[in-house]
Amino acid sequence: MATQQTVVHLHQLCKEFVEGNQRRQVLSHVNGDFYRGEFAVLLGKSGSGKSTLLNLISGIESPSSGEVLVAGNSITAMKERQRTLFRRDHIGFVFQFFNLIPTLTVLENVTLPMELAGNGRSATQAAMNLLEQVGLADRRDTFPDKLSRGEQQRVAIARALVHDPMLVLADEPTGNLDEETGQRVLKLLLDLTRRQNKTLIMATHSAEVVPFADRVFRVHDGQLLTTAEAVPPLRPLQKPFIVPN
Ligand SMILES: Nc1ncnc2c1ncn2[C@@H]1O[C@H](COP(=O)(O)OP(=O)(O)OP(=O)(O)O)[C@@H](O)[C@H]1O
Ligand SMILES: [Mg+2]
Repeated sequence: MATQQTVVHLHQLCKEFVEGNQRRQVLSHVNGDFYRGEFAVLLGKSGSGKSTLLNLISGIESPSSGEVLVAGNSITAMKERQRTLFRRDHIGFVFQFFNLIPTLTVLENVTLPMELAGNGRSATQAAMNLLEQVGLADRRDTFPDKLSRGEQQRVAIARALVHDPMLVLADEPTGNLDEETGQRVLKLLLDLTRRQNKTLIMATHSAEVVPFADRVFRVHDGQLLTTAEAVPPLRPLQKPFIVPN
């Protein structure tokens, strides 16, 4: 088997939230690795800590203790500003509720991450290329509130990928969509990430996603468990991916 290249390394990761005089330990000494080119699915019941884990991996939140390394860089040790820049350069995040900016057009929403990263000049071309791939090139000047939810989610996917991140985190990206649109959005996200050998980590409640995954985890009682549904060994990295119909 090809050597696996670690993209995300979790070391003794703990997260607790304090509310009043109550402490809730959501993640407890979580260890694990995610590899280049793999699609990992995080299952777990509501409140188990899936979003918390994705937020910690992206550096949106900081752990109570322990460490997250992305491509060997300690997100945890970075200062806030560094972390923001690192995220901007290397991580794409697809939010459950899209988080599109209502006052910006479709195209402007997608180019924003590149504008922020100072790559404004190549932004339009990269954004249009992705909008083409998600089937929304002709909606470039539309505002998000005029789009269906599936269309909004496709814009959110384009935005998460426009800066060519090595790591894509998706928090229930199909959670708000009807089954058919959800499947289309899933296939699209998978296809775009597989094609470029990106690492995709997705939190979801949809069991239909499981057959597509390289590995399946369950967040339970503060732990990250590999589940019986997991299909080891990992698919060889270079094998072309064909989405079954
Ligand atoms: N900022 C916060 N302050 C206090 N508690 C929080 C905070 N963020 C999350 N939690 C708690 O952490 C636990 C895990 O939340 P999280 O959102 O990670 O769950 P989840 O697995 O993503 O759930 P869902 O499937 O419903 O999205 C929950 O009990 C939640 O109340
Ligand atoms: Mg969640």
